[in-house]
Amino acid sequence: MEKLYEGKAKILYKTEDSEILLTQFKDDATAFNAQKRGTIKGKGQINCTISSALFQWLESRGISTHFIDCPEPTQMRVRAVTIIPLEVVVRNIAAGSLCRQTGLTEGTLLPFPLVEFYLKNDELGDPLLTSDRLKILELATPEQIEQLQSLALKINQYLSEFFTSCQITLVDFKLEFGLDSQGQLLLADEISPDTCRLWDQQKNDPQQRVLDKDRFRRDLGEVESAYEQVQQRVLAKLGLTEN
Ligand SMILES: Nc1ncnc2c1ncn2[C@@H]1O[C@H](COP(=O)(O)OP(=O)(O)OP(=O)(O)O)[C@@H](O)[C@H]1O
Ligand SMILES: [Mg+2]
Repeated sequence: MEKLYEGKAKILYKTEDSEILLTQFKDDATAFNAQKRGTIKGKGQINCTISSALFQWLESRGISTHFIDCPEPTQMRVRAVTIIPLEVVVRNIAAGSLCRQTGLTEGTLLPFPLVEFYLKNDELGDPLLTSDRLKILELATPEQIEQLQSLALKINQYLSEFFTSCQITLVDFKLEFGLDSQGQLLLADEISPDTCRLWDQQKNDPQQRVLDKDRFRRDLGEVESAYEQVQQRVLAKLGLTEN
């Protein structure tokens, strides 16, 4: 199959149908804008499985996503979209760059979910945009920006509730959206421990509770087992495993 694009975590292939792409999830991991590189064994399969499960669950709640099906455990067929070059981040608890840039202490519960738009541009280091910069860049219409904001908040509500039922706190996450050939706005890319901060509610220790890519970023060890833990709880909650 013709390779359309190889990113840091996934490879996109064309299919016979121009409206459908095949995404191959890789074990490769990068952090700090690819300055740190490594592999997380089994990550491709785990992220594909978790993403698929969450996309289907969100679909059942009325959120339109690019998900079609999984022909293989590391492969997802998706609707081809033109990605809006924005990373839509929702934060419930202060962590990561929010702490570095504002001085907020990691773990501070935010008074309301914070929706942020970052420019999806590796050369520029994915900078945080202001609302006026967003308007000037014209990467989406003002109506689409409104739509992205409200979709992001709705998805946050659903996912927060879902992860809580798995005894996991959804600290923050990054979403990507795109427009299909009919101009329909779809949730795209992936939702996984690579793109979410997830804290185990069964652990109090601030290092032990981390179940996401921060284990890799901060060399906390037991990266694979953290990803497996998330997969196991998500699938169990959805009734997709015996346990
Ligand atoms: N349904 C889709 N149609 C078209 N492109 C998509 C779709 N879903 C995701 N993508 C894009 O495919 C690429 C996925 O690869 P990956 O996540 O590895 O990228 P990345 O290394 O994070 O790089 P990038 O900075 O381009 O996101 C991303 O550029 C993402 O925006
Ligand atoms: Mg990516």
